[in-house]
Parts: sequence; structure tokens; C-alpha cells
Amino acid sequence: MHTILGIDVGASGVKGALVDVQHGKLHGERFRVPTPQPATPDALAVAFAEVVAFFDYKGVVGCGFPAIVKNGVAHSAANIDQHWIGTNIEEVLGKASGTRVFATNDADAAGIAEMRHGAGKGEQGLVFLITIGTGLGTALFYKGVLVPNTELGHLIWKKNKPVEAFCSSGARERLKISRTDWAKRFNAYLLHLERLFSPDLFILGGGESKYFETYKNLLTPQARVVPAQLLNNAGIIGAAAYAAENKETV
Ligand code: BGC
Repeated sequence: MHTILGIDVGASGVKGALVDVQHGKLHGERFRVPTPQPATPDALAVAFAEVVAFFDYKGVVGCGFPAIVKNGVAHSAANIDQHWIGTNIEEVLGKASGTRVFATNDADAAGIAEMRHGAGKGEQGLVFLITIGTGLGTALFYKGVLVPNTELGHLIWKKNKPVEAFCSSGARERLKISRTDWAKRFNAYLLHLERLFSPDLFILGGGESKYFETYKNLLTPQARVVPAQLLNNAGIIGAAAYAAENKETV
């Protein structure tokens, strides 16, 4: 069995688990530490190293990170400390944990996992995975191939602010709106994405997807809308899969 440590760095928690990358399943328990606030490179590196140290593991580590990630470098920082912009995530987290880290965007990681092992398995058309958490993350696939770093949670929505400021879970809590009102807003976002991209399938992931049954009737795109199947583990599984693929190329 091919086992790789996957770590999902989120705005509120850093979660890791050993992953059987062939079958897309966790191998053993998850370990989580809270994301330090502010989530500076130094502070986050300590939390990341703590998660790695929990596992008796020496191989490469996959990391899903909540930012635009190109060649291991963060190019945005919406829900983490601004000092990440321009920082090489793989170097900073690798040095702190004594491992070789491969980093990719967190929503892209979750999307990779869902396409291979979850709700997107076998889907050949245009698929969006949307993670609904503190922010709104998007992953776009066509014929199973990822278009990385789509960042459609940052479409400008109202008052020059990104849509994640109105339609994420974080926004629902901050603005104290009911889940029904939130779902109506979120539906407007789905319809807008549909108008722009004509997807065949929307997969909804992240914390809010747990309540899918309670609001699914309010979602009206023509495309199918389904909840993610790997629950909160998609980010971890996809991060491990990303590392498994990229370690072959270095
Ligand atoms: C970030 C994305 C990330 C998403 C979910 C957004 O604010 O810009 O890179 O995927 O949050 O964490």
C-alpha cells in the first residue's frame, strides 16, 4: 500500500492523516491543531511541524493551503496572514517539519480527491467543486483535468467585495443570517457561475456541505448539484495525492 501524509491547512485548523493514496482512504486517525492567530509563516510552520511529528512518518508530505499556490509559492492570503504572499510554502513548512513538502491550493486538493474517489468519479464534463468554509474555494475540472487556482470565491460581488464575504460559512456566521437566507444567496452565486461556465456538475464541500439536505431544494441551477462524499477528509486525501504525483517528478 502506498501511504502518504496529507495535511490540510485551513483558516481554523491544521488537520493531517496518513492516506492510502491508491484507494483514497485515510489510514488511521486524523490529528488536528488549531491554526494560530495570526497565521504568520513562523506560527503556522510550528503548527504544521506539530501535526507531522504526531505521525511516525518519514516520507514526503502533501499540503493543501488556503491561497493561490504556484510552484510552491503563495500568491495570495485572504484568510491567513499577509506575510505569506511571496513565501515559499514548501520551503518554510518543509524546514520546520524536516520533510519534503508539496503544496497546492486547498480547494484544488479537495477537488482532486472528489474527482478520483468521491462525487466526481468518472465525470467527463465540466465540474466545479466549491468548498464552503471560512472562505469560498473553487476547483474547476474539464474531462477530469484540473485548471488550478481558479479562485472564484473572489469574484467581485457587491460593494467591491468578493463573493466569499457574502456566501461563505464564515460570512453566514459573521452576518448572522439563517441557513435558508444563506442558501438563497449561495444559489445566486451558483446561477452566476452557471451563466459564466455552463458546468455539468457542482460538488459542494467544506463545513456547510454537511447540511446539504436542509437547503438542496433552494438550489436551482440546471447543472446537477451534489454534496462532496469524502466529507472533511477530501482536503487531506487530495493533498496526499498531489504529493504522490509530484514526488515522481523531482
Ligand atoms: C482563498 C482560496 C482558498 C479558499 C478556501 C479563499 O479565500 O483565496 O485560495 O482556496 O479561501 O480556503
